[in-house]
Amino acid sequence: MIRVENATKLYGRTGPDGAAVHALNGVSLQIAEGEFVAIMGPSGCGKSTLLHVLGGLDVLTDGEIYLDEEPIHRLDEAGLTRLRRTKIGFVFQFFNLLPTLTVEENVRMPGLLQNRPAKEVERRSTELLAAVGMEHRARHRLHQLSGGEMQRAALARALLMEPRVLLADEPTGNLDSEASAKVVQLFREIGERHRTTIVMVTHSREVAASAHRLIEMRDGKVVG
Ligand SMILES: Nc1ncnc2c1ncn2[C@@H]1O[C@H](COP(=O)(O)OP(=O)(O)O)[C@@H](O)[C@H]1O
Ligand SMILES: [Mg+2]
Repeated sequence: MIRVENATKLYGRTGPDGAAVHALNGVSLQIAEGEFVAIMGPSGCGKSTLLHVLGGLDVLTDGEIYLDEEPIHRLDEAGLTRLRRTKIGFVFQFFNLLPTLTVEENVRMPGLLQNRPAKEVERRSTELLAAVGMEHRARHRLHQLSGGEMQRAALARALLMEPRVLLADEPTGNLDSEASAKVVQLFREIGERHRTTIVMVTHSREVAASAHRLIEMRDGKVVG
């Protein structure tokens, strides 16, 4: 479960000559274990900032975030790194895969970073590539893939460490509607099978409709 209490994130300097931006301006919300929520709102309203602080990529200026009752707003840099590598899976709009590696090498990378036994990492990457319909692409390099295939590979990579939470920032932003529908369907299936909590930012009402619940943001606040 995720619980956010009065989260505030300020960028830049405050004071008379400062140009401070309240990227988050008192966000409170709860997301249940296994829930799939979509976040929508205009550009600049704080959606990416919210995902970054939920996933330990950035820290709050003020407020609290609990992940399964662990106060992640109190973690130091080492704690945040452990959180990102073991409890959180990230999927981004531009995939963030390593272009010189094959699909399966990309998917295995989080396991290697955590020094997991090679056999276990291999078994898991094979299972995940099958789950996202990419087993036939395992040995391919990235330039041979379509956008939809890249995002399915990125999803498999995000799931390698069996994260409790999957955070996705406009995961269908570069995909056509058919590939988008397929990727979102996979999110839903995987979330339901593993009770993974999924928080997905999207601009598409159609994509958001696949989630269990919609959270709307405006000007650093939750408005619905
Ligand atoms: N690293 C940063 N430094 C300064 N301002 C930032 C930074 N990241 C985001 N912002 C500002 O914070 C606000 C929210 O940004 P963001 O969370 O990226 O919005 P969204 O993802 O909803 O488009 C915007 O005004 C943006 O310009
Ligand atoms: Mg954004």
